[in-house]
Amino acid sequence: MSPREEILKCEIPEKENPYLPERARIIRKYDLTSDVRFFQVRLCNQTKAMEWTTKYKPGQFMMLSIPGVGEAPFSITSSPTRPGIFEFCIRKVGKLTSKLFEMKENDFVWLRGPFGNGFPVEKMGEKDLLFVAGGLGAAPLRSVLLYALDFREAFGKIYYLYGAKTPDEMLFKNEFIDMKERDDFDCYLTVDKDPDGNWPYDVGVVTTLFKYVKDIDAKNTVAVVCGPPVMYKYVVDEFLKLGIPEENIYMTLERKMKCGMGKCGQCVVGHKYTCIDGPVFTLWDVKTIRNLI
Ligand SMILES: Cc1cc2nc3c(=O)[nH]c(=O)nc-3n(C[C@H](O)[C@H](O)[C@H](O)COP(=O)(O)OP(=O)(O)OC[C@H]3O[C@@H](n4cnc5c(N)ncnc54)[C@H](O)[C@@H]3O)c2cc1C
Ligand code: FES
Repeated sequence: MSPREEILKCEIPEKENPYLPERARIIRKYDLTSDVRFFQVRLCNQTKAMEWTTKYKPGQFMMLSIPGVGEAPFSITSSPTRPGIFEFCIRKVGKLTSKLFEMKENDFVWLRGPFGNGFPVEKMGEKDLLFVAGGLGAAPLRSVLLYALDFREAFGKIYYLYGAKTPDEMLFKNEFIDMKERDDFDCYLTVDKDPDGNWPYDVGVVTTLFKYVKDIDAKNTVAVVCGPPVMYKYVVDEFLKLGIPEENIYMTLERKMKCGMGKCGQCVVGHKYTCIDGPVFTLWDVKTIRNLI
């Protein structure tokens, strides 16, 4: 065999290319609010559909793209305990999301991931959990909430406090109202304003719901806040007032991203890559890394 023939015969081992997205079909979509839409998608490759949807952590995100339009990160709002599909809540803000809002069921999008560190579910076992969401922050928090409820016996008390601007702007409103009926965890909802006067629950900013948080073992509690950064200071103050240790307080942060995997440098803050060291950070990280919030 000539050297040329040998080279041609030589097989290069096939390697997964992390930049290559997988095609996925939109199987369900509906409006959650006037500018946020729910998308349920399934990878076309059946093997990968099961593999990818069981091997991620709540709090991780996927890079979603439409060829010729763009790519952006979106938090997975479904839970790996309910495999087969990925769910996203997407706010229409720019080029990619506007195109996505034009798409119909059975249209294709492209996904790669999952990326990011996710919530520390491995440290949450047997702890009390206090989740606080504001606005679109309910998207990543729904994932960890469903996860905790599907493994209910593995955790202590669970509180979920969620605030939206108005009842019409509350994501998964009916789902959370139904959850209020459950007696194995506490779900409290509030709105900043109730223009129609028909909202039967609390009115006021999300911190007003802390009055319902009773009987938690503060030193043994993991607290998570997700929402607009402006609410973090007030919510963190409430966590600290309850006596929750700083190292048990987590928050998600957003930065513009390109690669999602620590290569392009787009998301760097201080010495951290938001795409691999985040998007979930501890209060300790936020205090010690300048400009993280
Ligand atoms: C880890 C992570 C998770 C995210 N999860 C969600 C989610 O679950 N649902 C959702 O709707 N969005 C989410 N986002 C934000 C989403 O990726 C951006 O809104 C995305 O850029 C929209 O793409 P576009 O082409 O439609 O808008 P673009 O044309 O890219 O931008 C539209 C506007 O939004 C601004 N913008 C874009 N990205 C960001 C950002 N990260 N932070 C602040 N401003 C930004 C731009 O400067 C511009 O003003 C997430 C972002 C990150 C980093
Ligand atoms: S998005 Fe490229 S390094 Fe984080």
